[in-house]
Amino acid sequence: MEQPVRGKLVLITGASAGIGLETAKQLAAEGATVLLGCRNLDKAKGVQQEIRSLHPDANVIVGPVPLNTARPDSVREYAQALNDSKQVLHILVNNAGANYKNPWKTADGVAGLVQTNYLGPYALTRLLEPALQPGARVINVTSVTHRMAHIGDLGKFFFTRNKGATDVYPLTKLANVYFTYELEKRWQSKGIRAAAVDPGCAMPQWKGGPSINGSRPKQPFTTPCRYYARGLFTSPLITWGRVGPARGIWGHIRTYAWAARALTLSLLDWPLRYASGGRLASSTCLVRSSTQSYDATLAQELWDMSAELAKLPQ
Ligand SMILES: NC(=O)c1ccc[n+]([C@@H]2O[C@H](COP(=O)([O-])OP(=O)(O)OC[C@H]3O[C@@H](n4cnc5c(N)ncnc54)[C@H](OP(=O)(O)O)[C@@H]3O)[C@@H](O)[C@H]2O)c1
Repeated sequence: MEQPVRGKLVLITGASAGIGLETAKQLAAEGATVLLGCRNLDKAKGVQQEIRSLHPDANVIVGPVPLNTARPDSVREYAQALNDSKQVLHILVNNAGANYKNPWKTADGVAGLVQTNYLGPYALTRLLEPALQPGARVINVTSVTHRMAHIGDLGKFFFTRNKGATDVYPLTKLANVYFTYELEKRWQSKGIRAAAVDPGCAMPQWKGGPSINGSRPKQPFTTPCRYYARGLFTSPLITWGRVGPARGIWGHIRTYAWAARALTLSLLDWPLRYASGGRLASSTCLVRSSTQSYDATLAQELWDMSAELAKLPQ
């Protein structure tokens, strides 16, 4: 996304903490008008004050209403309010995300973390289509952990609740990558581009649905697939080779070897960046995402089922 942001309207979801907060500070400092899309408006007002104390001329806007990606009605209300304001949104950063077990489901039976990290941002992006004019950019924050995930069955992905956080989170992040590539494919002709970003390491019921296992043909994407990674997660130690769920002895060896490399690099990534004042492990570049994320057939099926669940047209 190499374009000046001065004067652009940027919506950052989950801007009340962590990466979203730091992104808001940076973009405000660069002259963007930053819209804080947060579920807690008091926290967002605190962020607004913090940024204004750092940059008195910063344009930082709270709201217009709370945005909770875990709640489909909240996502709709937020998009409606923003569309009604008739503002042109230049950049949407789908950053809000969480990692916990799935102790709850939506009224439609979608697992909580899947709703929060994937389906909520999917619906938000699609509902904001009227505000996203030609030239707009959609950035989906994903994670290196998507490389360990494999979505073999969309019904299980959406509706299985009782999995540990370490199983579900990478699946939601892989879904973010599929969504990015499918969005690029569908909206490129409108002049809207999409990219997935792995920020590196930063400290501070089954209900039916199509089964897509088996020997269905896999189509590659014919439109650009842009996945950016930062710091040590751009290393070939992370990006090369096929990982994913372990099958067989070699599959387990390969996966554990990759996980050991990823863990080691993640323990070095942010301390290096921090200790060097951002001189080391800070560059962001285009790398390949996981092998499975280039399955255009699955991306299309995921889009269609997401549309159905979010009550949006295909
Ligand atoms: N930190 C890392 O090392 C890392 C690595 C790879 C990818 N990521 C991704 O980067 C993104 C930000 O992570 P982070 O580390 O900055 O997390 P964080 O510090 O926990 O901040 C998460 C932000 O998302 C918001 N949020 C959580 N659930 C939400 C919901 N249901 N609706 C709206 N907002 C919600 C939080 O709001 P509240 O303040 O109200 O809780 C907060 O503003 C996530 O998508 C994460 O998957 C992080």
